[in-house]
Amino acid sequence: MFLIGQYQIDTPVVLAPMAGVTDRPFRQLCRKLGAGLVVSEMVTSDVNLWSTRKSQTRLDHQGEVGPISVQIAGGDPYMMANAAIMAVKHGAQIVDINMGCPAKKVCNKAAGSALMKDEALVKEILQAVVSSVDVPVTLKMRTGWAPDHINAPKIALMAEQAGISALAVHGRTRSCGYKGDVEYDTIKTIKQQVSIPVLANGDITTPLKAKQVLEYTQADGVMLGRAAQGRPWIFREIQHFLNTGQTLEAPKLLEVKIILLDHMSALYEFYGEFMGVRIARKHVGWYLQAHDNDRNVRRQFNQLETPEEQITLIHTFFTQSLGKETAA
Ligand SMILES: Cc1cc2nc3c(=O)[nH]c(=O)nc-3n(C[C@H](O)[C@H](O)[C@H](O)COP(=O)(O)O)c2cc1C
Repeated sequence: MFLIGQYQIDTPVVLAPMAGVTDRPFRQLCRKLGAGLVVSEMVTSDVNLWSTRKSQTRLDHQGEVGPISVQIAGGDPYMMANAAIMAVKHGAQIVDINMGCPAKKVCNKAAGSALMKDEALVKEILQAVVSSVDVPVTLKMRTGWAPDHINAPKIALMAEQAGISALAVHGRTRSCGYKGDVEYDTIKTIKQQVSIPVLANGDITTPLKAKQVLEYTQADGVMLGRAAQGRPWIFREIQHFLNTGQTLEAPKLLEVKIILLDHMSALYEFYGEFMGVRIARKHVGWYLQAHDNDRNVRRQFNQLETPEEQITLIHTFFTQSLGKETAA
């Protein structure tokens, strides 16, 4: 348990923001399956672009269980402050600042993790955002911008002084992208230095790894990104392992089928049929990775154009797999 401002986070396992992945249907699913907090996909700090369909869907929090955390990305203090105010008007109960994303589109505008190079600007942004809204503001960052430029501990202190309520740290530098091993030493150092909650992020893929990282870094929680793709039940698995030291049984095929079909329905409803069918391909691919060794079903699924066809294929696939499971 830890606090972000006035919000108590009961389960120390958090869904990381992932553009193109952590949309409302996925956030709701992860929350239902045990995530203590979920963070939205980033929205640009240029509020003039918020009328686009992409931003509108990213800003939709209807029916979500709070606290609702919305991530903003940009490199101009005034625009970031304004975006924070607007995000709160759209329902954000926590505003998260993106200094963790190496994506080109963000970094070309000196936003995301590229910002970490300019500490004076970081300070300005943190102060501007914190003073513009009454809700807690959190910061997500990497350990630095290159292995020989690890400045996250310095920025963490700056953030605490600026009134940031919690930190999430991905144990890689910006230049490392997603390659190489994550290092948790910097996260451990940060945790020793600040008294605000710290979430450890990067390559946490199993309940055991979550426990080890928590023990090693003494962080208040873990944040998971890619490990939740196609495996949203990982949150309850980690929660159970942390609470009991026992491994929770993997979900049975029947439960996977139900979760997947519910997820698909939520996507069709949220995005409409045309977009929903396309977005379902990505998620279903992740779910099926564990069950479809020769990729045959995934290939077939990706050619389907309607919700009805997609639902029928998933029904058939699981009915056949369930038959094999019972026979075995
Ligand atoms: C597809 C994808 C999209 C991402 N989008 C964002 C984003 O919008 N904001 C952000 O701060 N980090 C973003 N990240 C980084 C993740 O939040 C996380 O820090 C990173 O994936 C490491 O955690 P993991 O090993 O648990 O996946 C993204 C990562 C992926 C794979």
